[in-house]
Amino acid sequence: MSQNQTTDAATQGADQFQAAGAYSAAGVTISGLHKSFGDNEVLKGIDMEVAPGEVVCLIGASGSGKSTLLRCVNRLENPNAGTITVGEHEATHPDVNLDAMRRQIGMVFQQFNLFPHLSVLENCTITPRRVLGQSKAEAEAEALAQLDTVGLKHLSDRRPDQLSGGQQQRVAIARALTMKPQLMLFDEPTSALDPETVGDVLASMRKLAEAGMTMLVVTHEMGFAREVADRVVFMDQGLVVEEGPATEVIGSPQQPRTQDFLRRVLNPLAE
Ligand SMILES: Nc1ncnc2c1ncn2[C@@H]1O[C@H](COP(=O)(O)OP(=O)(O)O)[C@@H](O)[C@H]1O
Ligand SMILES: [Mg+2]
Repeated sequence: MSQNQTTDAATQGADQFQAAGAYSAAGVTISGLHKSFGDNEVLKGIDMEVAPGEVVCLIGASGSGKSTLLRCVNRLENPNAGTITVGEHEATHPDVNLDAMRRQIGMVFQQFNLFPHLSVLENCTITPRRVLGQSKAEAEAEALAQLDTVGLKHLSDRRPDQLSGGQQQRVAIARALTMKPQLMLFDEPTSALDPETVGDVLASMRKLAEAGMTMLVVTHEMGFAREVADRVVFMDQGLVVEEGPATEVIGSPQQPRTQDFLRRVLNPLAE
């Protein structure tokens, strides 16, 4: 029963997210993106579009450049060539206001990066207080509203090490949402989790998608991609090989490299 209660809390309606967040979604346009590390050309000319409010799942083998692509979008990496726009910001323009642009982008990683010495609530208020200049009361009200959307308001006094991995990841999502982002980037958010905690994280992400957030999600969760993604993009060796509706790319992939990748992901024991 406690399992069900947790799941119920994590899957309450999308309207709750909207009430807490009131999102205005930003789109992303990537064209001709190249990125090398020394001699290693990791991104070889990527064109990709995520419309405002759209959910795109990015799939592909390890090393194909998925994380590098995400990191270029908020300029944690500097591209060698190409352009990226996020909402009204041209990420690749020399005069871009990186602070303003990054405030619109929430990022959730495989590792949650919560501050271990702070409570869940403090983890969710520290950045809005420092960066947005919110008062303690204002930041706490917003943080509790976001923690409620991921079903964790009742654990706001806990420290991260008192939570499961899945709960910590939901805190990381709530923390990102307190900054009122217009785009959320997820880089394998469930890959480090115990299997039984994955579902509640995906449920929170689905709810966020239903609330209209623009989401670019690197994931190996094909069930999530099928169910939640508007589009799936398959990358291999620094190039987009195939993209389209999830039912097409996952259900009946056309390219041999996509077929091979999905065969290995969906049926790891096969020859
Ligand atoms: N900071 C870096 N310095 C050097 N090489 C890197 C760096 N980040 C990524 N790479 C290389 O880029 C390639 C793609 O990595 P990555 O974007 O992490 O792929 P994926 O997320 O699809 O597994 C890999 O060969 C990786 O070793
Ligand atoms: Mg990666």
